[in-house]
Amino acid sequence: MNPAELSFRRFRRLRRSEGLRRLVRETRLSVDDLIYPLFITYGTGVRREVPSMPGVYQLSVDQLPSEVEELRGLGIGAVLLFGIPEHKDELASGAYDEHGVIQQAVRSIKRYDPEMVVITDVCNCEYTSHGHCGVLVGGEIANDPTLELLARTAVSHAAAGADMVAPSDMMDGRVLAVRRALDEAGFIETPILSYAAKFASAFYGPFRDAAESAPAFGDRRSHQMDPANRREALREIETDLEEGADAVIVKPALAYLDVVALARERFDVPIAAYNVSGEYAMVKAAALNGWIDERRVVLEVLTGIRRAGAGMIITYHAKDVARWLREEA
Ligand code: PBG
Ligand code: ZN
Repeated sequence: MNPAELSFRRFRRLRRSEGLRRLVRETRLSVDDLIYPLFITYGTGVRREVPSMPGVYQLSVDQLPSEVEELRGLGIGAVLLFGIPEHKDELASGAYDEHGVIQQAVRSIKRYDPEMVVITDVCNCEYTSHGHCGVLVGGEIANDPTLELLARTAVSHAAAGADMVAPSDMMDGRVLAVRRALDEAGFIETPILSYAAKFASAFYGPFRDAAESAPAFGDRRSHQMDPANRREALREIETDLEEGADAVIVKPALAYLDVVALARERFDVPIAAYNVSGEYAMVKAAALNGWIDERRVVLEVLTGIRRAGAGMIITYHAKDVARWLREEA
């Protein structure tokens, strides 16, 4: 080509109007991708805002029909349940109690709205007196005895009607243990959404207020992943898929979008990203101070998570996002 004919590239041509921008947009957010976490507590008539998570509430089971009604009205079709039991003990017995908070919550939601996809978090930390994710032996979290509790818990959730169980404990071999127990109990059709790449993150702080699950001593670094490790995250995901996970979660989202992107390239399974409590709290705090435009920031954050390759997004912003997407449509 004659250099005289060369013209520089004008990217701005396709950015000139909202109509053009919409046509060439590569990533879209949809309410279909959103999973809304719910914190279920004991008692009745409880609707208690979590101080470090404005707009997020601990709810008792009787509050669920109206909550589900609101979610439905917004087009949100999936929830992820966390439980706060009345009674905590060394063996997390509230986690697999047939009449526990989660088991009751699942039944209540499915009775009210059978189409609502109910996913349950499977871990022990909300149910143990010491706040650790497993059974303590000599002050350490014992891996294999913990698997039995997780398996029992997952089966009890499936029996209550959960559509999917999500083990979040990061013990080794838990997906296999949960899969076997579900199959033996006749729940061969219940999928496992594994928190496969879950990092030991400071971004879980507000969640531990919400779920009352902070460890009484120590931390979770003996089982959750070191934030510095990406290759290991891929091995964790690969292992969980081999053990029978149907879909996987990368958590937290924002500081780990490289992991989401790599996982998307490497594995042909549905991938969720968990936009965790600390990520939510930072946005909320800045927004309440008038320092950022909440709507634009949240839509940008979630678009970034989708662009990195996540299909599903677990987020406390789900209700607001559903409203905003409706307004923009
Ligand atoms: C339970 C669990 C945690 C989160 C989800 N499941 C907390 C933890 O590992 O301490 C964090 C979610 C959030 O921060 O929003 N193991
Ligand atoms: Zn835990």
